[in-house]
Amino acid sequence: MKNQLKTAIYPGSFDPITFGHLDIIKRAAKLFDRFVVAVAHDTKKTTLFHIDERVRLAQLEIQKLHDIKNIEVKPFQGLLVNFVKSEGASVIARGLRGVSDFEYEFQMSYINHKLAPNTTTILFPATANTHYISSSSVKEIARLNGRLDGLVSTEIADELKRRFSEV
Ligand code: PNS
Repeated sequence: MKNQLKTAIYPGSFDPITFGHLDIIKRAAKLFDRFVVAVAHDTKKTTLFHIDERVRLAQLEIQKLHDIKNIEVKPFQGLLVNFVKSEGASVIARGLRGVSDFEYEFQMSYINHKLAPNTTTILFPATANTHYISSSSVKEIARLNGRLDGLVSTEIADELKRRFSEV
């Protein structure tokens, strides 16, 4: 892989992007030449935000990371391994918040490796400050009018409030 840019793909639903995601992104992006935050069109979950909104909100947050220049945000459709290949990457980066994530992440890494043996998943443990943050809990707190300080940015919190006031 000499003289070739090392690209990592960080896939997820990002519905919406949280401080947990951003913590992983900031630490992981430093280890690669190119770091692509890949927003999945096809996820098992029903999303609150449309794919275009999830991409826009992720871009909004990434633009704030002035000192990190190698991050891109891209949507992808279909199988993750096909997107990874199309980006010339072989590394899939994922965060690991705790034991409850373990089974799911392991299974996904096995499946992706089976589908594309050249890909390797690297799991990044969440830090103590962010390991309890999930997009689903953030959405529930927003839906029930709770405070989102320390979980998502004010812009994302405002988007969530707006979205739930429309329902
Ligand atoms: O943030 P999430 O919801 O845990 O991310 C899951 C995601 C989007 C990475 C996963 O559902 C995915 O890779 N979807 C694309 C379709 C695919 O490749 N599925 C097979 C892998 S199990």
